[in-house]
Amino acid sequence: MSFPVERPRRLRRNERLRSLVRETPLAASDFIYPMFVCPGKRVRNEVPSMPGIFQQSVDRFLEECREVEQLGISGIILFGLPEKKDERGSEAWSPDAAVQRAVAAVKKANLDLVVMTDVCLCEYTSHGHCGVVEDGEVLNDPSLELLAQTAVSHARAGADVVAPSDMMDGRVGAIRRALDEAGFTHVSILAYSAKYCSAFYGPFREAAGSAPQFGDRRSYQMDPANVREALREVRLDLVEGADMVMVKPALPYLDVLRAVRRSVRVPVAAYNVSGEYSMVKAAARNGWLDERRTAMEILTGIRRAGADFILTYHAKDAARWIAE
Ligand code: PBG
Repeated sequence: MSFPVERPRRLRRNERLRSLVRETPLAASDFIYPMFVCPGKRVRNEVPSMPGIFQQSVDRFLEECREVEQLGISGIILFGLPEKKDERGSEAWSPDAAVQRAVAAVKKANLDLVVMTDVCLCEYTSHGHCGVVEDGEVLNDPSLELLAQTAVSHARAGADVVAPSDMMDGRVGAIRRALDEAGFTHVSILAYSAKYCSAFYGPFREAAGSAPQFGDRRSYQMDPANVREALREVRLDLVEGADMVMVKPALPYLDVLRAVRRSVRVPVAAYNVSGEYSMVKAAARNGWLDERRTAMEILTGIRRAGADFILTYHAKDAARWIAE
């Protein structure tokens, strides 16, 4: 059977028909909204390279959380700016740091949001690397204890999910053991399993003040050319106890997302990262792209490639567009 009997256009005639046969619908509940919290009170600074995204103190953060909840977004992932940085990044596991206070505040407010925290040291270390540095080297095993301690402090504050993004070998296992020993068997781990060494994190490093002060992250984050290695990372994280895995960035790695989706049964997340967001915003501001259509097409593509949910800075806008 072919044309003129087959006419695919019949099912595209109006939006009712189109939405009936749509293979990949988007919902606000597919999204996790990344947020940046900082010390102080009544602080709300827009990140220059990320229009619409703010570094904010816990009071302001809580106001935005209410909005996020009302939009039907599933949850948030938190990043923190420290009061001061040091060699080991010790504010990462301080019970009084911005992330820990923000988690406690959102839990106390009883909002219907999954509260995730990013577990990493780069925002907290003076050198800006994701682990302990000695003689210019990022050391693996000595970093594990600090990451595990950080994850436990997030769990203690009330986090539902901890998400290690450092890419040290063995960190998922170290975190699972530490959580269990501290009595947090119910806290899940979303592993940034396939996290690539990407130029697309540029705006985030402005938002989080986490650019490395020397060198780059190539000795721990993945080479953008590799996909088999992503499956290996995913397998190791699952063996070590990850409940969910993530591919990051999303848009240049849709093939990786698809390969991971096919190889595991656990939920797979994708991180539509800062640079992907900033490109859309910048082009839209110039009148070069239609922001709404571009963002929705990107998010649909990420879901279609295999993501069960998406961490995205477009979450609030997209939730509004979906509701319209
Ligand atoms: C911390 C971390 C980064 C991102 C998430 N967690 C930055 C990096 O690895 O340099 C990037 C998120 C984004 O670009 O939106 N390690």
